[in-house]
Amino acid sequence: MDTRFPFVDWFRNSSPYINAHRGRTFVILIEGDAMMRGRNEQLIQDLALMHTLGVQLVVVFGIRPQVRLALDELDIEPEVHQGRWVADEAIMALVKRISAEQRLWLEARLSLGLPNTPLHGVELTAVSGNVVMAKPLGVREGIDFHHSGEVRRVRAAAIRGLLEKGSLVVLPPLGFSSTGEVFDLDASEVAQHTAMALGADKLILLGESCGLYDASGQLQRQLTPAEAEPLRQASLPGSELARHLGAACAAARHGVARTHLLSWHDHDALLGELFTRDGVGTMITQHRYEQLRPAGLTDIGGLLELLDPLERDGMLVPRSRERLEQEIDDYLVIERDGMIIGCAALHAFHDAQMAELACVAVHDDYRGGARGELLLAEVERRARRLGLSALFALTTHTAHWFFDHGFRLADIEALPTLRRDTYNHARKSKILVKTLA
Ligand SMILES: CC(C)(COP(=O)(O)OP(=O)(O)OC[C@H]1O[C@@H](n2cnc3c(N)ncnc32)[C@H](O)[C@@H]1OP(=O)(O)O)[C@@H](O)C(=O)NCCC(=O)NCCS
Repeated sequence: MDTRFPFVDWFRNSSPYINAHRGRTFVILIEGDAMMRGRNEQLIQDLALMHTLGVQLVVVFGIRPQVRLALDELDIEPEVHQGRWVADEAIMALVKRISAEQRLWLEARLSLGLPNTPLHGVELTAVSGNVVMAKPLGVREGIDFHHSGEVRRVRAAAIRGLLEKGSLVVLPPLGFSSTGEVFDLDASEVAQHTAMALGADKLILLGESCGLYDASGQLQRQLTPAEAEPLRQASLPGSELARHLGAACAAARHGVARTHLLSWHDHDALLGELFTRDGVGTMITQHRYEQLRPAGLTDIGGLLELLDPLERDGMLVPRSRERLEQEIDDYLVIERDGMIIGCAALHAFHDAQMAELACVAVHDDYRGGARGELLLAEVERRARRLGLSALFALTTHTAHWFFDHGFRLADIEALPTLRRDTYNHARKSKILVKTLA
């Protein structure tokens, strides 16, 4: 039944994620650019919403572009080595002033509670403090880095205490030393060490780019640190990508379950990543031993093995090796430890603006783990990218699984003409259609 209010459906569908995130600890880095431009108001409201939903939040912010701007106005060109600037007295004075201004700005936005604003009725306590301990970078390759420092230790117990009292913790890119000095730190390093010290459930890095793309322009949804490391090495030292990948790989290796690379340009990225099944950015995680990816010719052996028992049971129409070879570009596979344990195909009928979702299969040993759902979501994404507006499937055994996933029974007239002609009447497959929103 169609709901009158589409948001009601959306709200229902997001409830599993709301439950999954409640009580979890997320460390979120907002780069200076995001603080300075565009989306910041919306972003702050999204943070407040997450806090309201019970997520324990630590927000780390960057100030590089703001400091750059102030330096330009003073006509000062900072010395840069190994991707870090040398924070001398003049730069450090700016760093302290701008950090304080940005923190105050954030705290002010998080206090906004006028009627008709999203934070009305929410009393959100944002706190900051001397919880990140630092040490100087010192003298490297003959260069004295002065007040530029690195993280020495994050006082995790103190942060945890604040989070447990319901506060949102705000961290500037500054650290304090045992000598009573303040050091300029890299914001992504602060976020990384904080996430590691807290054993955070997620580290979320909001930067320029909305994730990582492979050579063919496909968004890479999941990478292990080992896969991300070469990309880090190939990136420009000190660039945002290098800093984020460095933080993500280190965090993954030190027990942070998931690091998400998202773009602050994308208005919906933060909530989209957290509260929908599909997600939007790239996730770096140590624990990936399963991968959903487009199939290639080398997968045919694995596909035949997966499909053979299902074809023998009559659940799937038999497909020859030759047919699989011809259609391999239509297939997606789930590979686990080198074995193909799931697949699905999308055959496009551009004239009818439809696609057939065919050959959805998950290995017997791995059913019930939402892999079917994952395959369907990826096929839907593919179909949308191709500009198609509906999916159809033909099934003899699995109609109810399709019903559960938004398909409806249809008659043969609903099929594209070409597919109508090849419909096997003896098989009496049910015809199911799903309109793509
Ligand atoms: C359909 C299939 C791909 C689902 O894979 P999966 O990874 O187990 O899927 P999910 O975890 O997303 O969904 C599992 C749910 O679907 C239900 N389900 C699975 N097959 C079903 C069927 N034939 N009829 C009704 N419900 C079914 C399961 O009972 C489970 O429900 P639950 O969560 O309430 O326990 C898998 O069962 C399969 O490979 N089936 C054989 C091949 C087939 O029939 N393909 C479709 C024809 S194109």
